[in-house]
Amino acid sequence: MKSVAIMTSGGDAAGMNPAIKCAVEYSIQKGLRPYLVYDGLKGLIDGNIHAASVIDTADIIHRGGTILRSSRSKRFFDYEYRKQAYEHLQRLGVESLIVIGGDGSFAALQQFYKDFKVPFAGIPATIDNDIPCTDYCLGVDTALNVIRQSVDSIRDTGQSFSRAFVIEVMGRDCGYLAMASALACSADICIAPELPYDLDAIGERLRKRRVAGERYFSAVVAEGTGMGEYLTRWMSDTLNMDARLTTLGHVQRGGSPTVRDRVMANEFAVAAVDSLLAGHKDHICVYNYGNWGYKTIDEVKSSKAKLGANLLSLCQGLSK
Ligand code: F6P
Repeated sequence: MKSVAIMTSGGDAAGMNPAIKCAVEYSIQKGLRPYLVYDGLKGLIDGNIHAASVIDTADIIHRGGTILRSSRSKRFFDYEYRKQAYEHLQRLGVESLIVIGGDGSFAALQQFYKDFKVPFAGIPATIDNDIPCTDYCLGVDTALNVIRQSVDSIRDTGQSFSRAFVIEVMGRDCGYLAMASALACSADICIAPELPYDLDAIGERLRKRRVAGERYFSAVVAEGTGMGEYLTRWMSDTLNMDARLTTLGHVQRGGSPTVRDRVMANEFAVAAVDSLLAGHKDHICVYNYGNWGYKTIDEVKSSKAKLGANLLSLCQGLSK
């Protein structure tokens, strides 16, 4: 194997740029010819693939998003478009791929491998932290820091006005961002898909503190629960105070990657290049309990993302 093309796919996440940079530099170090695919799966189909040098990835370490841009392409599910993508790779002499993205993108590349035997390595990257078999996905720490800063700012205005605030965070069906940020920001309530909640118990707990003179309450709600608006009305009625909802939205996907995401990006990129050099065909780089490893995409697809038992138990007191 002499060449590798690096691409990003699906929702962008901070840490993608440092991973691209390291993948280019490390593959050159290992004697491979790196290429960059622009616009994700769409770019693969349309042949937006270019030979890369370290100049192309200079000065990107601090940038959020992905300089390669991303897309969610329905066309890739169609064999004819995959064939078109394969022909572009053949024309350029590209023999393998590194995809930085989520399990949907990995599954697309697995189908591509089945069709045309182009091996790939996957680097988990999504702020949702919902990819099975790995404790960490690139972008999570940066998103959490954006959330932490926003919730701290909301606390300033909330205390000044004696208001309750509900902050809705992203994560799709996964409550990781909600739970980790609720703990980090000392929220009074956390509502997440994985946590059974009891509003009567929460009401009883917080009303006592309201009577005792507490003037600010906050709740962090995972978008997957769809509870933001309801909980805001509920807090206003139950605590007899003004309540506001802040939906953080796509701000959580941006921002300069944190140190953790930059370091993890380097480690993931090295693991991905090494996976291809070891002859793996469809492996995802995973990080568990401080150890690096690989899982096949089949193993990843047939597993369920699990939240840590400690995180769940720490958050239980915030949902009742
Ligand atoms: O998967 C990342 C994510 O940001 C989710 O947290 C969110 O639900 C979704 O993507 C938003 O998707 P889009 O950017 O297409 O609106």
